[in-house]
Amino acid sequence: MKEVNVAIIGFGTVGSGTAQVMYEQAERIRKRSGININLRKVADIAVDSLPAHLSNVELTRDAGELFNDQEIDIIVELIGGTTLAKTFILQAMEHGKHVVTANKALLSEHGREIFAAAAANEVEIGFEASVGGGIPLIKSLKEGLVANKIMSIMGIMNGTANYILTRMTDHGVNFTEVLKDAQEKGFAEADPTYDIEGIDTAHKLVILMTMAYGMNIGLDDVAIEGISRIQPVDIDFAGDFGYRIKLLAISRNYGDHVEARVHPTMVPESHMLAGINGAYNGVHFTGDMVEDVLLYGLGAGKMPTGSAVVADIVDIARNINYGCLNRVPCLSYLPEHISPRQITPMAELRCPYYFRISTLDKPGVLSTISGILGRHGISLESVIQKGREQQGTVPIIMRTYEAREDAVQDALAEINALPTTTAETVMIRILADNEE
Ligand code: HSE
Repeated sequence: MKEVNVAIIGFGTVGSGTAQVMYEQAERIRKRSGININLRKVADIAVDSLPAHLSNVELTRDAGELFNDQEIDIIVELIGGTTLAKTFILQAMEHGKHVVTANKALLSEHGREIFAAAAANEVEIGFEASVGGGIPLIKSLKEGLVANKIMSIMGIMNGTANYILTRMTDHGVNFTEVLKDAQEKGFAEADPTYDIEGIDTAHKLVILMTMAYGMNIGLDDVAIEGISRIQPVDIDFAGDFGYRIKLLAISRNYGDHVEARVHPTMVPESHMLAGINGAYNGVHFTGDMVEDVLLYGLGAGKMPTGSAVVADIVDIARNINYGCLNRVPCLSYLPEHISPRQITPMAELRCPYYFRISTLDKPGVLSTISGILGRHGISLESVIQKGREQQGTVPIIMRTYEAREDAVQDALAEINALPTTTAETVMIRILADNEE
């Protein structure tokens, strides 16, 4: 039986999960692939020993040893970060090793260089685990949806943010309290910035857009807003209006230009994504032939992410076995068909909006605010004023009909500058009921 040998750099949560999946599923994988896929070496500077079931695996502190080992076919990078990980991946490729990684930050920020190195060295790179943990999103785009023009991508791609918003919605607790609780339970990182500020979601959107549309795109192309401004009062009003607040990645394909945005969104309760709660992820694609596809599952965690890493290892091992490397282009489109594309300017976005304006409770304030909105062509669907808070401040809640983003930004700048406005207005975009 054909033998394919693997080494892992980084034996943290995902690294140890990958080793465990390989161990537990070895027989099943042999039956499905006809290949013995062996974990030969693990490199990690902070680990002194491997678990008992990995007694035949060599542990080293020097990743360099793996690149020069003639027996190793596939190197799995699971250290994260964008500096050392990049060096290791490029070195592995220069030594003719195939690479598997879960590193979304690296791919979305330095993908072009890494994919070019893979092509130049005639090796494969697999990155299923970089988006949506255990959910086979990448393979679905590359293979299952190969006969489709992807018309839109919309998804909840960060479990930490979704967990926080779900807890805020279900228990009425504020953002800071839920975040602290999530950190104590180990659901949120000690530094949760990437998760709560939408950057991790944007990294994932960059990868999916590249594959869905065959386009060159970078993190700078994505308009990003996080969830830290959201308060229980916004969640309550969203509920009253029939929405749930979700951190969504959204991209619609208009042919000559495509949207790329990540922001909190009021999602109608009837929408498929509104029911995705807790640490779960869900990504909705529309294809011109298949129409709607929703993929749902655990976007993080040791075993789900390990499962995705191992799926890439098995794919590469099969290609080695059958002598058909790069049978499926790693970015779905052939490199010569990946081109730049225009990003739809955020200013041109049209959708309904929610505003929470904090203002002094004085005669004439509401008419001043609605006058500003009217001058910018923004039409109100409903207005709610709640009782006074401290020092005479009241929240005014407004829901608009569809409006243009640039008009909204200009109007809110004027409203925020009023002497009666006591805090920056919270604005949340609303997904229209009829939107895919
Ligand atoms: N930190 C991510 C999340 C998982 O909370 O979903 C890895 O992408």
